[in-house]
Amino acid sequence: MSKTHRGGAIREGLRGISVLVVDEDDERLESFIDEMAPYGAEIYTTSDVSRLGEIVREKDFDYLFFSASSISELDIINSILRDTPKRARLILLADVKLLEELDEDDLSTLHDIYLKPVNPMRIALNISSSYRSSDVSTSLTPVESYVKQLKPYMIFRSPQMKRIMMTLPRISASEQPVLITGETGTGKELAARAIHFLSKRREGNFVAVNCGAIPDTLIEGELFGHEKGAFTGALRTHKGKFEIANRGTLFLDEIGDMPLSLQVKLLRVLEEGEIYRIGAERPVKIDVRVIAATRRELHKAVQEGLFRDDLYYRLNVLKVHLPPLRERTEDIPLLAIHFFHRALSELGLSPPHPELSNGSIDMLERLPWRGNIRELRNLMTRVATFFAPRKRPVLPADILHHLDEFSIQYLMEHQDIPHHKEGIFIPIGTPLEKAEEIIIKETLRFTRGNKSRAARILNIGIRTIRRKLNKYSNRPQ
Ligand SMILES: Nc1ncnc2c1ncn2[C@@H]1O[C@H](COP(=O)(O)OP(=O)(O)OP(=O)(O)O)[C@@H](O)[C@H]1O
Ligand SMILES: [Mg+2]
Repeated sequence: MSKTHRGGAIREGLRGISVLVVDEDDERLESFIDEMAPYGAEIYTTSDVSRLGEIVREKDFDYLFFSASSISELDIINSILRDTPKRARLILLADVKLLEELDEDDLSTLHDIYLKPVNPMRIALNISSSYRSSDVSTSLTPVESYVKQLKPYMIFRSPQMKRIMMTLPRISASEQPVLITGETGTGKELAARAIHFLSKRREGNFVAVNCGAIPDTLIEGELFGHEKGAFTGALRTHKGKFEIANRGTLFLDEIGDMPLSLQVKLLRVLEEGEIYRIGAERPVKIDVRVIAATRRELHKAVQEGLFRDDLYYRLNVLKVHLPPLRERTEDIPLLAIHFFHRALSELGLSPPHPELSNGSIDMLERLPWRGNIRELRNLMTRVATFFAPRKRPVLPADILHHLDEFSIQYLMEHQDIPHHKEGIFIPIGTPLEKAEEIIIKETLRFTRGNKSRAARILNIGIRTIRRKLNKYSNRPQ
């Protein structure tokens, strides 16, 4: 066993904590030492499982990190720990295959699980913040008051989303059409509703039409309505969605699927503010704000001749692009916890609800999320439905069973890529003050926007970080 304890720890987060790491992989042992020792933790490492009994008889540990490749190794560890007076919290470092094999008895012995490749620095930060539990609540970034109005509809913390949300009040104040783009499930409809509710049209209707779901032959009638007798079977005058949305907002979802013939008519409506019901001689004045959304890249559809360029330019006045979830991983913990707890409440279970372990969050942050927020919501609903009432937190193994094939495959393909220490590139010639800014911003990116964690890594006060960030954002570009 080797021991590392740096007397003059440069950060305090793990002072007084003793950690034992058992791993055959020397590189991983090294990186645990590198990452945890500076926090003041006492770190013991061994690559020899057979010596474990002897080691734990000699000394108590707060945490025991154990890289196992089979259930039997976990059984050995547990039988050794059973005889120790103060049982260390056992944190398993596992691959997907092992995770699939764990049953409830195994899970009940574990404090947490991290999927390989592990990132010791992030684990150190997680432990140090749960150890000093007063820090946990600092994870919610304060948001501006008008952005708060959007809650609880919109949950976000990432700088990208924050930037987008800040534009919504301006967009809401305008009467111009809006084009919302983004992959499936990124929240396009939610953003459209937010714009409606922030605008002076909030008293009017928000009417959503999915242009992709209505057959071409019916969509014109859906949008514009028809006069009595306009065609066989038109027994009564029928109001279309434009009229229903009068003084409100019309949300044209999947606008890219709108037939070309109708695109011409839509363009005319946008230009003239009046519609013709099918079979009508005279137009009806309408006062409607149009918000369109698409998953497709409309400019490509324009090039391919599937979408009219004049309509494209008419719609593309105010643009909102919602980035995919994998590009704003900072939002994942908040959304996952929100959806999980909401699903438990819907099942009639009252709080306090179980937490998601740090290892679970770490796994969620690494998934590809092709279905974006909708996929995350559905996943957390499945996890909640099958998570029997237990005292322990939700561990990655509880989630893994509910992932689809694609996500599991993705995790497997990425688990053998060794974790490399992340670095910051600062070109020679960078003024010191600018270098400091780069370091702070990159560290914040690493901690996924968590300022108190970034402050801890940099060994400066949280107020210093806030002050400097304020300075950067107020400085003219
Ligand atoms: N920031 C968010 N906070 C909370 N819930 C969200 C957020 N973004 C999206 N959702 C939820 O995710 C689900 C999908 O969102 P939405 O229907 O708006 O996506 P979309 O972009 O319109 O998807 P599609 O292209 O498939 O129609 C909804 O249940 C929505 O409430
Ligand atoms: Mg939608």
